[in-house]
Amino acid sequence: MNVLIIGSGGREHAIAWTISNSPNLTKLYAAPGNAGIAELAICLPISVEDNAAIVRAVHEHSIDFVIVGPEVPLVNGLVDELGKTGIPAFGPTAKAAQLEGSKGFMKDLCARANIPTARYARFTDIAKAKAYVEEHDKNSGGAPIVIKADGLAAGKGVTVAMTKTEALQAVDDAMLHSAFGKAGTELVIEEFMEGEEASFFALADGETAIMFAHAQDHKRAFDNDEGPNTGGMGAYSPAPIVTPALQEEIMQNIILPTVKQMAKDGTPFRGVLFAGLMITKEAEPIAETAEASRYKIVPKLIEYNARFGDPETQAMLPRLKSDFLDVLYKTATGKLKDVKLDWHDSAALCVVMAAKGYPGNYKKNTVIKGLDKAADLPNVVVFHAGTLNNNGVVVANGGRVLGVTGFSQNLKQAQHYAYLAVDNIDWDEGFCRRDIGWRALK
Ligand code: AMP
Ligand code: GLY
Repeated sequence: MNVLIIGSGGREHAIAWTISNSPNLTKLYAAPGNAGIAELAICLPISVEDNAAIVRAVHEHSIDFVIVGPEVPLVNGLVDELGKTGIPAFGPTAKAAQLEGSKGFMKDLCARANIPTARYARFTDIAKAKAYVEEHDKNSGGAPIVIKADGLAAGKGVTVAMTKTEALQAVDDAMLHSAFGKAGTELVIEEFMEGEEASFFALADGETAIMFAHAQDHKRAFDNDEGPNTGGMGAYSPAPIVTPALQEEIMQNIILPTVKQMAKDGTPFRGVLFAGLMITKEAEPIAETAEASRYKIVPKLIEYNARFGDPETQAMLPRLKSDFLDVLYKTATGKLKDVKLDWHDSAALCVVMAAKGYPGNYKKNTVIKGLDKAADLPNVVVFHAGTLNNNGVVVANGGRVLGVTGFSQNLKQAQHYAYLAVDNIDWDEGFCRRDIGWRALK
């Protein structure tokens, strides 16, 4: 097959790297790709948002299968457009991608299918939204509340408000000051959940789903989970908190009911369902009288993404033994029942190197050295995210720039290799967290 990957991040480099050895691959293309992807694929200078140009390129290069990395083209209906010309693509249709594209859509679906998630309400009216915050404050004494822009906001649309003032400000920012453009004209306001977060991935073919893998991400910019929220500063897989019993529970109570409900509603979901989970602890009914410390673990859905995670993918794919291209193709063409996933009995850990200043303003075109030295280390792969090849010199071209991944028989070893590689990369204008994996290794 000739295959086209849509996207230019670390996730797409990891996908390209994994399928580049597939016996089913003839020629690999990427649009637009990056300096790392360019070592494995022919990069086409096409925007991920230009459906018409992508469809033209598919015909021009006789592409047999398209793998869509990011959410924006999914919500823009790229898979629908490709489908009209008979080209199979990995990823949901625009309607099914609403699971990520509209938080209100996702919450309503959860309500219909009885999926455990935070209690919520939807608002298009600013006065009603504020009244709801006031009411909540009265009932719970100003406990935290979560304000979410309904639409895609590049990971910035969520405010976990610790006070009423902060919550009202978040409503104003979205609805009055249009901080998220059209994405914030509607809000979801929901209950605050406490617990540990995990990223859970399942493949769905419209009718059924199987677990893919799980991981944990590090959202804050700096060590000890301090600093601003980012797209993700590092990840590891597997996530020890997701025990085999929890995996089963997540599939039965969250993933499978979602896939069934989507099919029932006439918007079958094909692609990868990325469930952001809160692993909560609930007091057992008996706990009030006997042992106050008795509780049960309940995984609840925070949100869905309709795509693979970044940087979670960089930490999952090095563990995969199966032919990933074959897995993606079968999922996309409704043959999930023929898929059997094989994994190495190992762990992987990805450290994101970002440009100093990220997630705020940062410099571009700074030179990165030592990439070959790092990549030559055993048990290491250096994924590119925001890079550009400037006449043979690799320069930074984005906020998150590299995903330096180590893999080994256990997480501690994987972490060791990842940081060994990081220390071989010579890039003064970059930074990374030094504590990726702490939760699992503590
Ligand atoms: P999202 O964009 O929906 O993933 O939200 C971003 C982050 O906000 C999540 O990863 C959580 O850390 C936090 N968050 C979202 N919703 C809730 C909630 N209901 N309770 C607590 N934290 C939340
Ligand atoms: N790492 C979180 C995400 O991909 O949305």
